Amino acid sequence: MADIEVERVGRVQTIRFNRADKKNAITRAMYQTMADALTEADGNEQIGASVLLGQPEVFTSGNDLADFMAVATGAEHGGEVGEYLNAIATGDKPLIAAVDGLAVGVGCTTLLHCDLVYASPRAWLQTPFVDLGLVPEAASSLLAPRLMGHQWAFELLVLGDRFDAERAERAGLINELIRPEHLESHAVAVADRLANKPPEALAVSRQLLRGDRQDVIARLHEESEHFSQRLKSDEARHAFMTFMQKKAK
Ligand code: COA
Repeated sequence: MADIEVERVGRVQTIRFNRADKKNAITRAMYQTMADALTEADGNEQIGASVLLGQPEVFTSGNDLADFMAVATGAEHGGEVGEYLNAIATGDKPLIAAVDGLAVGVGCTTLLHCDLVYASPRAWLQTPFVDLGLVPEAASSLLAPRLMGHQWAFELLVLGDRFDAERAERAGLINELIRPEHLESHAVAVADRLANKPPEALAVSRQLLRGDRQDVIARLHEESEHFSQRLKSDEARHAFMTFMQKKAK
């Protein structure tokens, strides 16, 4: 089974994290598959909307820390993450997420780019960037304060505390809490409704609400420069090693 499963249900494309044994940690190959799927959606008139799905109790634990460690110790960064972030930031078609369980790091910041986010009551979000010696990514340093105000964004992105589903809903990150057994069907049904609306009116309306995204792209690049430097820092190397060693015990 592929680590990312891309399927079509009518005019809806589903993109599912499928690496449950590693809590759906996202590898470079997985980023590329997701970026390709979102690019395909933009160019394909048969696809009206995409939905991000995970596994029971696991949306995703974010970037694979082994990949981070590889960069920290000299490997090339690769363009896959950038392609994915660009795709979620600038994609033309509605993007919906169904979050059951944990959504860590980019699993959380991805939600800031979604048009609709549904989650189960057992969902929780966390971005341990600073504890890993890193900085916020995915333009979250711009989008989170815009969405929820500075203090809540600071708590999420800098303090790195867990937001449970209820708190994330209050912060505006989640549209609605749906029981786990109905979560995916609900998200896909809403995506289907969107996908069957008049496409031109939908596209223009979405563009009006999202703005021209220049500021988002600029922030993506600014964060990315810091992030790349931080990945090679002693602070980050130490944090990745601590995670790996804990797991090795
Ligand atoms: N990268 C690589 N591997 C990861 C991972 C990640 N982001 N998250 C989890 N895994 C792996 C673990 O190493 C473990 O592998 P193993 O069974 O071969 O030892 C497996 O997934 C299960 O994870 P585990 O930590 O045992 O599950 P848990 O339920 O106790 O904890 C998390 C879940 C998500 C809280 C914990 O795994 C974690 O903190 N992961 C790192 C999250 C992170 O920092 N992401 C990057 C953010 S920028």
